Amino acid sequence: MTGPEFRRLLEEMGFQMGGINETILTTVNPDGSFNAAPMGVHRISHEVLELRPFKSSSTYKNLLNNPKACINVTDNPGLFFVTAFKGKTVEGLLEPAIDKDMRLISAFAHIFVDASISNDISEIRACFTCRVKDIKAPAMMPRSFNRGRAEAIEAIIHATRIEVFSKEGRLEDVEKLIKRFAECKDVVDRVSAPESVETRVVGELEKMIAIWRGKT
Ligand SMILES: Cc1cc2nc3c(=O)[nH]c(=O)nc-3n(C[C@H](O)[C@H](O)[C@H](O)COP(=O)(O)O)c2cc1C
Repeated sequence: MTGPEFRRLLEEMGFQMGGINETILTTVNPDGSFNAAPMGVHRISHEVLELRPFKSSSTYKNLLNNPKACINVTDNPGLFFVTAFKGKTVEGLLEPAIDKDMRLISAFAHIFVDASISNDISEIRACFTCRVKDIKAPAMMPRSFNRGRAEAIEAIIHATRIEVFSKEGRLEDVEKLIKRFAECKDVVDRVSAPESVETRVVGELEKMIAIWRGKT
């Protein structure tokens, strides 16, 4: 596959220059197994992408030791949930099965990268520049936009910070994020089917937040 083909596929998958897309990144653990975690992907030039993991994450440690990574493209809130909160399951949600090529099997498409150049953005966050090595993106049916799915993924992002800030005793920040979580949940409650993945995900997050809040 050539550079122009990479560019075309990145555009078609919605990776706009200067924008951030939410994906699930698979990286190599020290024991050779794979780790999956939601990560924002910044497209900084035609074929160069950037990852900005917190230094506390396994993703950061893995990328320092091994630059091989796979950016998995999905809009499934269930996959974002089980990879953000490992070990947590919600009945009926997909397990994050990863094949030997580092692909999260149920994702739509896969972008294989080398995340070899890194520098610090701050004391707590780093930046890895990724060169695209290959893209596997099968032709697929267009998907209509669903506010509930988008808001559920937004709610998961808030919840990952609520967990961290609760542990750090940052009560004001926790309360701000809980308000934003409640707004996401409100949209999901209004537009998503009662048995949908997004409804189950925000329901589970609400229970988790109540527990974290109890600990602060
Ligand atoms: C949609 C979404 C995007 C996220 N983007 C990032 C990111 O860019 N950098 C980061 O450090 N954490 C990000 N997170 C939070 C991590 O996924 C979360 O802290 C995760 O538990 C890290 O897993 P790991 O320790 O296995 O790397 C994001 C979470 C979600 C739900």
